[in-house]
Amino acid sequence: MRKNIVAGNWKMNNDLSASKKLAKQVVKKVKKAKLKGTKVIIAPTFVNLESVAKATKKSKVSVAAQNMHFEESGAFTGEVSAKMLKSVGVKTVILGHSERREYFGETDELLAKKVDAALANKMKVIFCFGEVLADRKSNKHEKVVESQIKNALFHLEASAFQNIVLAYEPVWAIGTGETASPEQAQDMHAFIRKTLSDKYGNDVADEVSILYGGSVKPANAEEIFSKPDVDGGLIGGAALNADDFFAIVNAF
Ligand code: PGA
Repeated sequence: MRKNIVAGNWKMNNDLSASKKLAKQVVKKVKKAKLKGTKVIIAPTFVNLESVAKATKKSKVSVAAQNMHFEESGAFTGEVSAKMLKSVGVKTVILGHSERREYFGETDELLAKKVDAALANKMKVIFCFGEVLADRKSNKHEKVVESQIKNALFHLEASAFQNIVLAYEPVWAIGTGETASPEQAQDMHAFIRKTLSDKYGNDVADEVSILYGGSVKPANAEEIFSKPDVDGGLIGGAALNADDFFAIVNAF
């Protein structure tokens, strides 16, 4: 059975004390609640990963990095490797976020290398993709998503998908307050699962968690998560407030 997952992407927000505080609040709420198997992940900035990993250590909350370089070490100023992340207790990484693609020029080819490096280091990957508004308006959204998935992931063996979570994030819905309708999310998630199934078979496709991201809030989470192919969310803005984030976690 694939897992339900709610992951909070803090982006470039929260200094050290704010990160520790928010992490502790999330841990406390998760501990108190009786979650029905929902996995909770939080992703602070690189500099706060170690402190947040410590703050969540004996809890059910996992910590993820927001990015990673594909090389192990060397002359790559400003970059962080999988080994470094693991050395501070981080075993999950978000790759391919649309902000990385848009502002930092990350391509499918580069992301394929990052995915390989993460998996080679036995890390879990939350792999993000999604179309821009123009793609949706011209009815190319499925084609775009299909090529993002194929280009970055379809060189992998089926077994690799045990360590991959997909996150469909339509770019037009990220941070805009405009959410995909639950039907739009479900249609795309079903399409994504079919794309996986065509290549790897139903058994693999059925086991991969597919998260929706883009303006998920306490008010809309329940309806989006109720769709059969939506296995959770990647949450930006609403993950910065423990009450809101937890209300979304609790939406299952
Ligand atoms: P948002 O961000 O929830 O603020 O729209 C989602 C994301 O970028 O992962």
